[in-house]
Formats: sequence, C-alpha cells, structure tokens
Amino acid sequence: MNCLEERIIKDGVVKSEAVLKVDSFLNHQIDVNLLDEMGKLFKEKFKDEKITKILTIEASGIAIAVAAAKHFNVPVLFAKKSKSNNLGDNLYHSMVHSFTHNNDYDVVVSKDYLKQDDSVLIIDDFLANGCALVGLCDIVKQSGASVAGLGIAIEKGFQDGGKKLENLAIT
Ligand code: G4P
Repeated sequence: MNCLEERIIKDGVVKSEAVLKVDSFLNHQIDVNLLDEMGKLFKEKFKDEKITKILTIEASGIAIAVAAAKHFNVPVLFAKKSKSNNLGDNLYHSMVHSFTHNNDYDVVVSKDYLKQDDSVLIIDDFLANGCALVGLCDIVKQSGASVAGLGIAIEKGFQDGGKKLENLAIT
C-alpha cells in the first residue's frame, strides 16, 4: 500500500456513494510531505520517460503537479478554467464538461508555454469521468507536443474516465 492509500484509509471521508472527500490533506488543507512522497512515486513510475513539462488544471491539480515537478526538475503549466485578460489571445482552447457540476467550461493554455518539442506528463488529483484529462490531452495534441503519460492521484474506477482515456490510446 502506498502513502496516499494509507492516508485515504486514515483521513478520507466517503461523502456519498460516488464522492470521496480528501479535504484534510489534498483538496483544501495540503500535507506537503505527503505530496512530496507522491511526487517521488510519480518520478519512479515515469523514470524512463523524457518529460519536459508537467501539465495540470486549476485548482486542485496544481499542488500535486508542483510537488511532482520538483522531482522531474521541469516547469509546471496549469490550464486555466477562465480566460484572464492578461493571458492575451494566443491560446489553446478545449471545452470540458463537468458531470459533477453539470456545466461546460472553456479550458485555456497559452501557446507560449507548450511547444511541439515538449513531452508532457499530465497530472491531476481525481480521475472520475475523465473530461478534464481528455481536454488536457486535446490541448497537448493541438500544440503538436506529445503526451508522455498521465499521472492521477486517485482514480475512481467505477466511473468511466479510465476507459475513455484507454480509448484515446494513452496509458
Ligand atoms: P472529470 O474531470 O474526471 O470528468 O470529473 P468531473 O467533471 O466529474 O469532476 C469535476 C470536479 O470534481 C473535478 O474538480 C474533480 O477533480 C472533482 N471530483 C470528482 N470526483 C471527486 C471525488 O470523489 N472527490 C473529490 N474531492 N473531488 C472529486 P474541479 O471541479 O475541477 O475542482 P478543483 O480542481 O478546482 O478543486
């Protein structure tokens, strides 16, 4: 059992049949030592891949991505869920549907920070229906960069996100 599994058993709260709350160490209050251990595990898992950048999505993916990036020694790029004026118009866009919130949102990443020669590790906290990750893969594809891997902290295997990503031929 790894450090995250142990912590979920100790401090995770099953809120309903479909929702696991991890607010006390991952999603609201953050245990930085746990995240550092998780970062190490991501590095071990993807040690044979040449990773040039870690891509995640705001908000909860950022802390995990930063912890991992320290072990890969690469920058973190996070997709924004709303367009800010400071970003300009030179953007990749992908439309993401959230089943949890039942809405669609436009995810954006500046073209300045994702280039054709990048090899990208995508990291996020939860894999539920997979829409956010499919959107991030779409953005990497638009840039001409390659997806070197997907690093998910918690996969909810009873939802269909894993299958969706398998169908994209990304493992
Ligand atoms: P998907 O991205 O895999 O398609 O899933 P979905 O749209 O259903 O997820 C919407 C949000 O809910 C995501 O965060 C996702 O991380 C989160 N989420 C899904 N299942 C759970 C769960 O069981 N527990 C918790 N704690 N979160 C879950 P988000 O809205 O993008 O929020 P944030 O990253 O800004 O915090």
